[in-house]
Amino acid sequence: MFPDRIFSGMRPTGPLHLGHYHGVLKNWIKLQSEYPCFFCVVDLHALTTHYETPDVIENNVWEVLIDWLASGIDPAQATLFIQSHVQEHAELSLILGMSTPLSWLERVPTYKEQIERLHDKDLGTYGFLGYPILMAADILLYRASLVPVGEDQVPHVEITREIARRFNYLYGREPGFEDKANKAARKLGGKRCKLYYELRNAYQQEGNEEALEQARALLQEAQSLLMSDRERLFGYLEGSRKIILVEPQAMLTKTSRMPGINGQKMSKSYSNIIGLREDRISVEKKIRKMPTDSARARRSDPGDPNKCPVWQLHQAYTNPATHEWVWRSCRNAETGCLECKQPVIDEILLEQQMMLERAQKYIDDPSLLRAIIADGCDKARKLAHETMRDVREAIGLAYS
Ligand code: TRP
Repeated sequence: MFPDRIFSGMRPTGPLHLGHYHGVLKNWIKLQSEYPCFFCVVDLHALTTHYETPDVIENNVWEVLIDWLASGIDPAQATLFIQSHVQEHAELSLILGMSTPLSWLERVPTYKEQIERLHDKDLGTYGFLGYPILMAADILLYRASLVPVGEDQVPHVEITREIARRFNYLYGREPGFEDKANKAARKLGGKRCKLYYELRNAYQQEGNEEALEQARALLQEAQSLLMSDRERLFGYLEGSRKIILVEPQAMLTKTSRMPGINGQKMSKSYSNIIGLREDRISVEKKIRKMPTDSARARRSDPGDPNKCPVWQLHQAYTNPATHEWVWRSCRNAETGCLECKQPVIDEILLEQQMMLERAQKYIDDPSLLRAIIADGCDKARKLAHETMRDVREAIGLAYS
């Protein structure tokens, strides 16, 4: 009924690092040419944990957006915007909160875990418990079918599906739905109408998913159908309700384990990051200081790359010929560690060079960035507005 669409969000908690680039942004860059994409800086989500220090959010929002653009997210292809600038996020979140059982929220695995982990913050708030509802609102507002996320976010996408299903169940009811659906089916015309019922039966009685897909394609192609009839027929395929909110699928980003400068996964909480736009002196210094195989105390001691975090960076950054050189020269103590680090430094600086160049434009002229985001917010608002119109009508809040 609705075309495939991608939504993903990122909290503005600080400048991004190379782990974000390799783990998330490269994937977004691929997706932006394949689907309509909505990429959102979720500043309201940042408030759930930073409500006592909200002054840091504004700067982080712009930094994250520059990082996205620097990485190659293309505003001519993808829609980039800020969550709090599209007020429908707050509105839908409030409405979805009415019908979401507390138990669903309390059993989200990250909930208790985070409260314990971030014990210096009081996260015993209504807003923090409601984090998944706000995230569901983000996704459902754009009727996004696909949500690229890391593994840790899968439970959130799952609860989004449950929230959508429950909403459709509660509010997709219509007096005389069955009659209306049958009337709408007749409007498909003899042959297509017959095929619709056959496919519906194949799905409902035998669980034939392919038949469901075919039926959806049939409806998609039925140009002459009124929007409301189409929605009924989509809903009737699967049950006896209209579909108002679309259940999204998580699109798992394969975890590229980008190592940090100590061999652990790159993450701000391990203090081992290289910033996406970090200046070159600092990058060089960080890598030069990186620990190597501790058994290699002197240059004349042979080393083992498998025990060296620098080797992990080689795997992420350098070519097979360099890998061979690293193995040979390290095991035979032919080169020193600083020499071995140099190709990694060169590759990282090269990668960053392009990002720094792309970013400079927006640093020199902030109004360029403001214009891109104003445009993205407008586009997002338009879709959000359509969804909210249907939501209000379904709940019975459309009176004037
Ligand atoms: N919770 C996500 C994270 O911490 C951020 C997020 C908010 C998000 N809304 C979203 C991700 C909607 C995908 C879709 O990474």
